Amino acid sequence: MADPLVLGIETSCDETGVALVRGDDLLFDAVASSMDEHARYGGIIPEVASRAHLEAMTPTIRRALGEADVDLSEIDAVAVTAGPGLVGPLTIGASAAKALSIGLGKPLYGVNHVIGHAAVNQLVDGPFTERSMALVVSGGHSSLLLVDDIATDVTELGSTLDDAAGEAFDKVGRLLGLPYPGGPHIDRLAREGDPEAIRFPRGLTAPKDQAKHAYDFSFSGLKTAVARWVEARQDAGKEVPVADVAASFAAAVADVLTAKTIAACRAHDVGTLIIGGGFSANSQLRDMAAERCAAAGIDLRIPPIRYCTDNGAMIAALGSAVVRAGLPPSDLDIGVDSSMPLTTITV
Ligand code: KG4
Ligand code: ZN
Repeated sequence: MADPLVLGIETSCDETGVALVRGDDLLFDAVASSMDEHARYGGIIPEVASRAHLEAMTPTIRRALGEADVDLSEIDAVAVTAGPGLVGPLTIGASAAKALSIGLGKPLYGVNHVIGHAAVNQLVDGPFTERSMALVVSGGHSSLLLVDDIATDVTELGSTLDDAAGEAFDKVGRLLGLPYPGGPHIDRLAREGDPEAIRFPRGLTAPKDQAKHAYDFSFSGLKTAVARWVEARQDAGKEVPVADVAASFAAAVADVLTAKTIAACRAHDVGTLIIGGGFSANSQLRDMAAERCAAAGIDLRIPPIRYCTDNGAMIAALGSAVVRAGLPPSDLDIGVDSSMPLTTITV
């Protein structure tokens, strides 16, 4: 029997994503973003995002179906992000998914967004055949996951205790006077600077942190250190070497993320590392991960950027894995959970 055809809907933040997946094959992935509307506020405004999802939902579903040449009646299951994310935006996606589920008489699967960021890799690099490690880094999350089975068995080894990696970049971007979101701007500036110019702190890497926080991250101290350094420079009436600050800051983030992740791979005897989430676009992280994984003999999988940022394919991919694992569908009265824990793969 052919694998089920799964429609995935993602609305946890500012992207309205709709995709169709059969097995591990992506038929089409349509994304509409409201980022342009948020940029002038310097952050995502949940109500603006919710309204944009409401308006974009039907056109994006139509586009995905049209491009994939699929009729709604052919869909076997509907998967939707049930959390974590912004409540209003999540609610729009869940409502659309419930309406489709009722209208089509097909099962609904509410799934975890962060785990979706790892699951999407299967559409690009093929099924996970063995225990893998996944580092999910974005503006909202920085989590290290041990993946035994993407549908049923994922363990969170660590996460950030304060800011996510992308969030730290955006905050440092703000203090350097860069447009929102600052992440990509810092990345670009960092390529022109010296990563060893300033030695910024590496959070939670002291020997005393090994016992409790070996695989946790903390970036708020680093952000404060950058702010202090820049202030001291300004107070002294000296020019701020922006490229060197960016490069040294980006190096500190990439260093901690890759060092802890590779240590976790070694400790759990894992030979495959998946990196996902919008922050995996970061060049300093990509370069350092490639170098250190090669040295450690770890197979590194990072999908193209469009599958790293929020999209419907990640939710359809996880939905497809969940359906094939034979898990029961979600009840139609499920809610959304803005802080859904990583122990929950489906609701
Ligand atoms: O996954 P994503 O699109 O949305 C969230 O779920 O947060 O991630 C966006 C985050 C933002 O914080 C953005 O500044 C950051 O990822 N980002 C980058 C780069 N591209 C995106 N940070 C550093 N370097 C980049 N090249
Ligand atoms: Zn995300």
